[in-house]
Amino acid sequence: MKAIAQTEYGSPEVLRLEEVDKPVPQDDQVLIRVRAASVDAGVWHLMRGTPFLIRLIYGGLRRPKQQILGSAIAGDVEAIGKHVTQFQPGDAVFGDLSESGFGGFAEYVCAAESALALKPRNLTVEEAATVPVSGLAALQGLRDVGQLQAGQQVLIVGASGGVGSFAVQIAKAFGAEVTGVCHSSKVDMVRSHGADQVIDYTQTDVAQAGQQYDLILDAAAFRAFADYLPVLKPGGTYVMVGGSTPDFFRAMLLGPVVGKWRDRSVKCLASQPQQADLLTLKDLLDTGKVVPFIDRIYPLSDVPDAIRYLEQRRVRGKVAISIC
Ligand SMILES: NC(=O)c1ccc[n+]([C@@H]2O[C@H](COP(=O)([O-])OP(=O)(O)OC[C@H]3O[C@@H](n4cnc5c(N)ncnc54)[C@H](OP(=O)(O)O)[C@@H]3O)[C@@H](O)[C@H]2O)c1
Repeated sequence: MKAIAQTEYGSPEVLRLEEVDKPVPQDDQVLIRVRAASVDAGVWHLMRGTPFLIRLIYGGLRRPKQQILGSAIAGDVEAIGKHVTQFQPGDAVFGDLSESGFGGFAEYVCAAESALALKPRNLTVEEAATVPVSGLAALQGLRDVGQLQAGQQVLIVGASGGVGSFAVQIAKAFGAEVTGVCHSSKVDMVRSHGADQVIDYTQTDVAQAGQQYDLILDAAAFRAFADYLPVLKPGGTYVMVGGSTPDFFRAMLLGPVVGKWRDRSVKCLASQPQQADLLTLKDLLDTGKVVPFIDRIYPLSDVPDAIRYLEQRRVRGKVAISIC
């Protein structure tokens, strides 16, 4: 089968389109004919092996242990191991392979059934493949870490990106009043996802705008978390999803202390590929409450270009890979 593989860490040049052996499912695994995948920041962190901590988490201190990347996929079940009970050959599925050994940038991949759910009926395979990693981060950041309640006022920073575009729609579906923060060129897009207000950060500094929120989900954390504390209501919660690595670690280490001192919670998200959450997202997608937004679709051979584009951090919504 064809796959995009790497044997060393580095820039997108280390990625090669290769012929490799088609995987064989173990007893508890599903073999999937991958129809589409998507790229996310986790892909380029693993490709480059930075921050270094990622090498400790996933193994491969000097060379990547995972030679075929790709976490978020959609495809068709081709075969199942004898202990698999939830899926049958022919089922259309989507899933997050980040705890199943990755391997999504390939024509076939094996995964644990817990990494998968039936694909939302009304989505193309490319749309479905954009959901697992970014949609899960948005859902878990808002609902689990942020403890979002209906009627709350929520600020989504990075509202035009992969996580943010799902977060705006999920927060609306949960009954929140949503304000999105984005670049001026993306105000219309964020509004079209249902944001009640949109702040163009080239015109207005949200930290100086005088409004306070119950919850801030920060998917573009390129400034200190402390800047957002005055923007939170007393007792409110700031959730850092990602952005700059030093800012993320600062929030992780100092956030709980500073937040408590200022009567606010400062938390960091570590999203997990939960099957129950894929099913929650499937419901939101099936009912049209959440609609993926695809910026560009690349063929499998152009995964390096897709990652180059993503690394500019100027994507609208998601970048998909078409594989079928
Ligand atoms: N903690 C977790 O479990 C977890 C899970 C998933 C993702 N993440 C992290 O979450 C972050 C967001 O992921 P994503 O997929 O949404 O990324 P993305 O698609 O690249 O979106 C990020 C958005 O941030 C905005 N942005 C970029 N540079 C900026 C800057 N200097 N100042 C202000 N805004 C800027 C851009 O929107 P504008 O053009 O509108 O500014 C961009 O669309 C990444 O760092 C990723 O690693 C963490």
